[in-house]
Amino acid sequence: MKQTIVSGMRPTGKLHLGHYLGVIQNWVELQDKYDCYFFVADWHALTTKYDKTEDLRQNTLDILTDWLACGIDPEKSTIYVQSLVPEIAELNIYLGMITPQNWVERDPCLKDMAKILKTKEGQASQINFGLMGYPVLMSSDIMMFNADFVPVGIDQVAHIEITRDITRRFNNLYGEFFHEAQPLLNHCSLICGLDGNKMGKSFHNDIKISDTAEVTSKKVMTAITDRSRLRKDDLGHPDECEVAFKYWKIFGSEDEVNTVRCECEKGQRGCAQCKRQLGDKINSRLAEIREKRKYYENHIDEVEKIINEGSAKARVKAKEILSQVRKLVKMY
Ligand code: TRP
Ligand code: SF4
Repeated sequence: MKQTIVSGMRPTGKLHLGHYLGVIQNWVELQDKYDCYFFVADWHALTTKYDKTEDLRQNTLDILTDWLACGIDPEKSTIYVQSLVPEIAELNIYLGMITPQNWVERDPCLKDMAKILKTKEGQASQINFGLMGYPVLMSSDIMMFNADFVPVGIDQVAHIEITRDITRRFNNLYGEFFHEAQPLLNHCSLICGLDGNKMGKSFHNDIKISDTAEVTSKKVMTAITDRSRLRKDDLGHPDECEVAFKYWKIFGSEDEVNTVRCECEKGQRGCAQCKRQLGDKINSRLAEIREKRKYYENHIDEVEKIINEGSAKARVKAKEILSQVRKLVKMY
């Protein structure tokens, strides 16, 4: 019997290289070892964006298209949309009943989100009941499939702590049933943005999986290099080359990285030429993924079919768990 993994992403739009290298690549590998459930957390998107739902459907399709292109495989994993598995909402009711208010109030992730909301919307903004329930809903996602492990970034670990607390509380109240899920840390953001800061869509410093080769090459030309270098035969300092050399270390072979280092240090390599090569390198690494993405973009009905079939498959398992939960809680 394989152990179970559950993980999800909010549908915030097309994915960038940070998502691919930091999260998705990890998921792709996990598929062979675990029974994996990967989903788009569209209810979680509503906790803050309930008033901006016009992009929700497209964002969900975009993120799933990216996953499929990157190698998340519907033959190996169960891929679904959270809101298409309404059993999660019922489990959320039972878990909400046994979660003390101060557990969610203490959640540091939630405090951060509340702060961001406040600065965005002004002092008057309130935290809605739904947002308060964020960690409980996340626990429902995880416990719905009785997960053993949850691959997440370090920023999500506090949520999983609450999930473990809720699990223990459920098991104490109603009998041992749920596994205590453990976080499985993604080697978090390996790659910085083109400007040296954290890569993020809203910072306009990202390279998207869905960008064309031309766009990628252009973006790479804007990457920060060794700022002390003014002319191409100035001696360079790769370790102070803030972005371009870091990217080389991610995308180049050991030999290529050594060559870049040597030529840069000896002043035999101009930054423009260096970044042109780097762009080609990144493009060849992404070529296959992008080709696959193009295919799915042109066959969006196939993506929809995968979503619907995956969600139906998820429901079968969810119904099984839920009927046991109802029995344990002694519902009618
Ligand atoms: N909160 C997660 C994030 O913002 C997304 C998420 C929702 C999730 N439910 C989950 C992740 C369950 C793992 C397991 O990234
Ligand atoms: Fe960076 Fe390449 Fe320029 Fe050296 S030559 S500073 S590694 S971009």
